Amino acid sequence: MSGKGLAEAGNTPIQWPSEAIWEAVSPRLPGFSVEVLPEIDSTNTELMRRARAGQIDPVLLVAERQTAGRGRLGRRWFSGNDAGLGALSPSLMFSLGLPLTPQDWSGLSLAVGLSIVESLHPDLQLKWPNDVWWQSRKLAGILIETASLGDVRFAVVGVGINIGPQDGQGLSTPPASLSELLPAIDAPATLERVVDPLVRAIQQFEVQGFSPLRAAFHGRDLLYGQTVRCSDGMTGVARGVDAGGALLVHTETGLKKITSAEVSVRPGPPANPS
Ligand code: BTN
Repeated sequence: MSGKGLAEAGNTPIQWPSEAIWEAVSPRLPGFSVEVLPEIDSTNTELMRRARAGQIDPVLLVAERQTAGRGRLGRRWFSGNDAGLGALSPSLMFSLGLPLTPQDWSGLSLAVGLSIVESLHPDLQLKWPNDVWWQSRKLAGILIETASLGDVRFAVVGVGINIGPQDGQGLSTPPASLSELLPAIDAPATLERVVDPLVRAIQQFEVQGFSPLRAAFHGRDLLYGQTVRCSDGMTGVARGVDAGGALLVHTETGLKKITSAEVSVRPGPPANPS
């Protein structure tokens, strides 16, 4: 294990549960290590760099601060930690990297999102494909990337969770934070709660794919029954996901499967197609 479970944020050390996580995960993931860094550009970028350089042992990389955090669709990911709030640690940022060989990759991001919400709170919802929302506000985001090295494909699963109150950063909808649901929680406790179940969920996905998780996803589906507008302009009523995790949208011209377009919830009353 390369992480000592202790890193400096400003002057106050944060106690990270590296040892406990390593003990829980390593029996099922040989070669696994835990690493905590006070600062990095992006935990996803770093693991992708390492993978391209041939480092493909399973690893959990946690950062107390990211200088160039990345979100989906080429966006930046900002966290409260960027403002130098140090040990208050208002966000948890980590990436889990591991070689993965599923028969079918579709639905991995949904499986990851599902694992995160199930580890955290029954009231959390998922906005397809994998944003975590609470009470109409985003609470966590997931960025999955892969690197191919010969026959091996290395997956980097990046997770950012708002722990303490967040600065809205000019967003129309200010983010939610886990402390609103679990007032006593902090970033290290959140990490300990999510990582082992996440590894299990990814390993289960590798063998079984997404389809066994479909019903559980529906139980958390924020978009179900809502009128949605896809980034390509198509609108309709969200009707859950198929066995491969594609979003089903009932449109005027029939049921469409959305696999990659961004979906936003259109304001206004739900439309009536069933
Ligand atoms: C999104 O909501 O668009 C995805 C956000 C993912 C953020 C996490 S924070 C840890 C990891 N490193 C990154 O640069 N991004 C992910």
